[in-house]
Formats: sequence, structure tokens, C-alpha cells
Amino acid sequence: MLKSRWTMLWMLKRLPKTLGTQSFFAFGSLAMLGMLFVTSRPCESLAQDGSVKTTEEPKPLTKYLGRRIAIPMSYHGIPWLNRPERIQEENPEEMLEQLEVQAGMTVCDMGCGDGYYTMELAKRVGPTGKVIAVDIQPEMLQELSRRCERNNLKNVDMVLGLPHDPKLPPGKVDLILMVDVYHEFSNPVEMLTAMRESLKPNGRIALVEFRGEDPQVPIKPEHKMTKKQILKEYEANKMGLVKEYDRLPWQHLMFLGTGPQEKSPKQPKPE
Ligand SMILES: C[S@@+](CC[C@H](N)C(=O)[O-])C[C@H]1O[C@@H](n2cnc3c(N)ncnc32)[C@H](O)[C@@H]1O
Repeated sequence: MLKSRWTMLWMLKRLPKTLGTQSFFAFGSLAMLGMLFVTSRPCESLAQDGSVKTTEEPKPLTKYLGRRIAIPMSYHGIPWLNRPERIQEENPEEMLEQLEVQAGMTVCDMGCGDGYYTMELAKRVGPTGKVIAVDIQPEMLQELSRRCERNNLKNVDMVLGLPHDPKLPPGKVDLILMVDVYHEFSNPVEMLTAMRESLKPNGRIALVEFRGEDPQVPIKPEHKMTKKQILKEYEANKMGLVKEYDRLPWQHLMFLGTGPQEKSPKQPKPE
């Protein structure tokens, strides 16, 4: 008992190097296995006229366009999502600045987890805007709800999505932020289609992924992505690179959408 507690503490300390391994992902592995045994099953939704529509749930994938899809991180990993080292590894302040969030915007935090970024987004959109926080794990949303209460934030709508359906309203969203999430989608095509349709005409997806090209980034390969692979997958789904920012410590920040490409701001090379 004592030994396993020490093992747990050791893993908590080591997690940046062991992302994707053992205990934090055990739940995810079980969920994924369960999903794999289910090929496709009927899925009920309420149509606009009030009738119940039954459609086939799409099959979860394990690979997409040559990339191995990662197993979703379990809510047991909440302490890891809030580790103090995130500040050095991700520079959240700098990343959020690049999003250019304005008061009054509708921003989606897709795969919000327990809300590490939702809180900041909610402050930035202010009382006239809102954050739609989507996750597929109810436990993540429960923790986020407690966080919003503690911080007295009333502009966060929590949505329990499905692995193939984020349940976003069409044409209403200015910005979708995805931090360390996209590589976990078991149904990337359905998710990209739904997200694209939820955007306003100049809306964008801000994609943050650990750099797959960089062996110095100590994250498991299936939890990282290269720019080349990101573009391959988004272009296959009618979206392109609108803008990018290359100065985060370990991650790519790429803006994707259907709008025209913008010039990236001049980015001096990191020392
Ligand atoms: C590594 S966590 C990142 C959480 C948060 N973005 C952060 O940076 O703290 C990935 C999250 O994505 C969620 N996720 C995976 N697939 C999803 C999907 N299809 N729709 C919404 N959320 C999903 C997982 O449940 C998990 O909470």
C-alpha cells in the first residue's frame, strides 16, 4: 500500500517525461478498449421538430492519415494538468496573449479538462462574452464547475460532448482553443467538421500541440504532432493555416480556419 503510494508520488513528479504511460492513462486505455469493441451503435438525438432521430455512431479510429491517435487522458490526471511546471513548459500568459481574445467574444475551450485555460478565457471575454467549455468526461466538467463557483465566474457554459460530436451551435463561435487535445480525438473528421461549422465566417481554431519535430520535448510521440501532419489533417478537412506563432517553449500554436491567410508577426529566433 505504502509502496504503491510512493510509486504514485514518483509518477506525479515524473509525469512530464512519462505522459501517456501507466496509471494516469489506465482509465483511458480501458475506455478506448471498450470503444474498440463497439464497432458502431445507434445514437439518439432530438430533431428540431421534437422527434427523436436515430443515427449510427461513427466508429472510433486508432489511426488517422498515418498518425497513431493517443488515448484520452483520464480525469485522474487532473493534478498533472495543474502542475506548477506548466508555466515554464507552456508559457500560458504568452500563449493567451497571442489569441487576441476580446471582450464580448464567444470562445470555445475544446477538451477543457478541469479548466486550466477556461478560467483565463472567461476573464478575458468578460460578462458580455462567454466560454463554451466542452469535454467528454463528466468528472472534468464537475471539477470545472467547482472552479467557476470558487472564482464567481458566470459566463462559462459547460457541454458534455461525445467523442464524435462537440455539440456546438453552428456559426456562433469566434475562436476554438484546443490545448493538448486534438491528438486524442478518436473521430477527427467528425470533430473537425462540427468545429468548422460552429465558427463564424472569420472564426478560427487555435491549435496548441507539443512539437513532434523536437526530440528535446519530453513527451510521448503519440501526444506530440508535427506541423506537417497538422496541416495534412486540417487541409483534408477544408481548413488551412491562417497564422502561426513559433515562440512557445515546447508547443506549436497554429491558427486554422477557412478564412484568408494572414502574415505571421515577425518572430525573432529564441536565444
Ligand atoms: C490532456 S487533456 C487537456 C485539458 C486542457 N485542455 C488543459 O490544457 O488543461 C485532454 C482533454 O481532452 C478531452 N477530450 C478528448 N477527446 C475529446 C473530444 N472528442 N471532445 C472533447 N474533449 C475531448 C479529454 O477528456 C481531456 O480532458
